Amino acid sequence: MTARLTEEQRDRVEKLLSSMTLEEKIGQMNQESVSIVGGFDVPFEQLIEMMTDGRLSKEEFQTIMSTAKTDYHEDAIRKGLVGSLMVQDPEKCNELQRIAVEETRLGIPLIFGLDVIHGFRSVYPIAIAEAGSFDPELMEETASMAARESRACGVAWHFAPMLDIARDARWGRVSEGPGEDPCLASAFARAKVRGLQNDHSSTDHYVAACLKHFVGYGAVESGKDYNTVSMANHVLFNNYLEPFRAAVEEGAETVMASFNDLNGVPSTVNPWLLRTIMKKHFGLPGFIVSDANAIKECVAHGIAEDEADAGRQAAEAGLDMDMGTEIYLHNLKKLVEEGKISMSVVDDACRRILEVKMWLGLFDHPYTREGEIGKYETLPEEHVDLALRSAEESAVLLKNEGDILPIAGDAKISLVGNLADDKEQIIGAWAMSWKEKDCVTIREGMEKEFPKLRYFPCGGPEGEINEADAEEACAYGDVIVAVLGETVAMSGEASSRADITLPGDQRQLLEKLLASGKPVVLVLMNGRPLALGWEAEHVPAILEGWHLGIQMGNAIAHILSGRKNPEGRLSSSFPAVTGQCPIYYNHPNTGRPASNFKFTSRYLDAPFQALYPFGFGLSYTTYTLRDLKVEDKGNVLGISAKVKNTGKCSGRATVQFYMQDVTASLVRPIRELKGFAKAELAPGEEKTVFCSLEKKRMGFWNNQGEYRLEDGLFRIYAGQDSTTEMMQEIRLSFDGIEKEPDYPVI
Ligand code: NOJ
Repeated sequence: MTARLTEEQRDRVEKLLSSMTLEEKIGQMNQESVSIVGGFDVPFEQLIEMMTDGRLSKEEFQTIMSTAKTDYHEDAIRKGLVGSLMVQDPEKCNELQRIAVEETRLGIPLIFGLDVIHGFRSVYPIAIAEAGSFDPELMEETASMAARESRACGVAWHFAPMLDIARDARWGRVSEGPGEDPCLASAFARAKVRGLQNDHSSTDHYVAACLKHFVGYGAVESGKDYNTVSMANHVLFNNYLEPFRAAVEEGAETVMASFNDLNGVPSTVNPWLLRTIMKKHFGLPGFIVSDANAIKECVAHGIAEDEADAGRQAAEAGLDMDMGTEIYLHNLKKLVEEGKISMSVVDDACRRILEVKMWLGLFDHPYTREGEIGKYETLPEEHVDLALRSAEESAVLLKNEGDILPIAGDAKISLVGNLADDKEQIIGAWAMSWKEKDCVTIREGMEKEFPKLRYFPCGGPEGEINEADAEEACAYGDVIVAVLGETVAMSGEASSRADITLPGDQRQLLEKLLASGKPVVLVLMNGRPLALGWEAEHVPAILEGWHLGIQMGNAIAHILSGRKNPEGRLSSSFPAVTGQCPIYYNHPNTGRPASNFKFTSRYLDAPFQALYPFGFGLSYTTYTLRDLKVEDKGNVLGISAKVKNTGKCSGRATVQFYMQDVTASLVRPIRELKGFAKAELAPGEEKTVFCSLEKKRMGFWNNQGEYRLEDGLFRIYAGQDSTTEMMQEIRLSFDGIEKEPDYPVI
């Protein structure tokens, strides 16, 4: 393995460090964002609030913003007091970088970071959707393309991948992460880190990943954002930490601490999480940044007396960079001088930051080259193709009664729903650099595929339903395609919902459309699993379209016309009713598994199982599995199964391999995904797919942090979703098998 930095680069960092003043070191630990200053009659926060509650329209807000003055912190940069900034404009990045490189004493470059969560200029499906492609190569390609596009804009650091395991769809941020399962999330994590970081052939092609949010944020109580998190160690170790462990093993450079407290300690000031686990145990090479404003929020958490106290605790815990509060900037020097923080804490943080900048090549290539700026103003064909492929692979067919889909090209279609013709709505939460001209709405995509289509907006997640429109829609089409779901603003940060059924009057609209007696296809656009009990019962065809990015319209049109055979799977379980949340397939065994007998683990008024389970997704063809084989090959189990296309069109099958540890010293999950494989199959074709399961991955961590590989009976399953089809039992002894390292516990 080649060293991350050369000897010479390390020397450069050390020399620099030894020539820096304390202020300059602290400056490196300070991240600023562009601030909007002055000129308003009300504070900026209130303006945002006014836009959110509708007192200001988006257009009015944008007009105010375009005339507002912005502070890029030039003076602070000039004094060496800024290490990083969040800026998106490449010319501005170069201008600020020039100040850092040419006008500061030591010429240390800035690192520009941004939330590039699912694409930059090309926007791909939101993560919860892309994870459901079960295609790590695709996940890597989209990350790599995002890295190229952002680096051409001066952004060398992505606050991504977001790796929060999430089991409660009420939480708005489920949209940003890879779903509920640690195995799929780890595959996603590795693919993303490879895509973002691994092409060192040129500084145009790679960025530093920032794994977030470390850790447990996906388990906020009752799915309410920023809420408290309580979690047993074994749940943390076996589930929530797994994707982070995988990503650091893959070489991830940086991490963002989460907002939440974990068992009473906010991650921002948690030395066990930051120093002991992330830095020492996992061996994170680079630095840890706080989430926005999070150091300050430790006062509100009631864990710090004041800002200085919060800064002291955070620095001591191993939090290297302060996002947005300037608490380090204003307090660390005094704290060091008073002996309340040791100089080595500051040195370590600063060294880590400088090393990442060195690793990124910023010392030698601080600027975005002239030719690079604007390079992706017009998206090249291969970028558009990738956006289309990722969207096509991520949509999930949930129901197709009577083979309503695909729809014949000459069918008269009534296309219904505001969401079907709104460019902003296909993009999804956390996308900032997209351009309208690249976006293809569902209406635009379908009009190309179905010449006899007519569009009737009718209404959507917000506002009233236009009855007259709905009546016309019912009268015109042979088929009605209703595009319903959530607006972009209904998922993502600060967008938890207590009721995750279709919002607004959309169910009434569906009822009206169904009453026409015409076949209705429901195309969903949403950022979280929805509670679809009613829809699953009444609507004959349902296609889960998520927010699929700039090519969403073409992807959906291709699937509806049958040009593309759907292959996406669910990365998260869908409940029938909201009250089933949190819901996830890999839940622990109980002493009373749900059954028709009353005194079992169940609700009186909801089904036992998920409506659509993790891993589920239909296709226009059918696949059957047979011949599950499990072979003991020493350090690994060789698992294979045959999968056959038994339908009439070609497609890609996703075979999933699960395991159950039947008896153990801790209650284990009823199933755990351990591997998966995709197979491209022509009608009638059969292939064997494989999964090589390392025996050391068959154990678990207990509450004491000890990794247990316990001899005994195991069940190995193969299936097309987490409810599985075939099973083989095998009795194993782990004598001589190397174990995963134990976790350090407090
Ligand atoms: C807050 C969000 O929690 C985090 O995901 C994001 O990276 C930062 N803000 C920066 O925008």
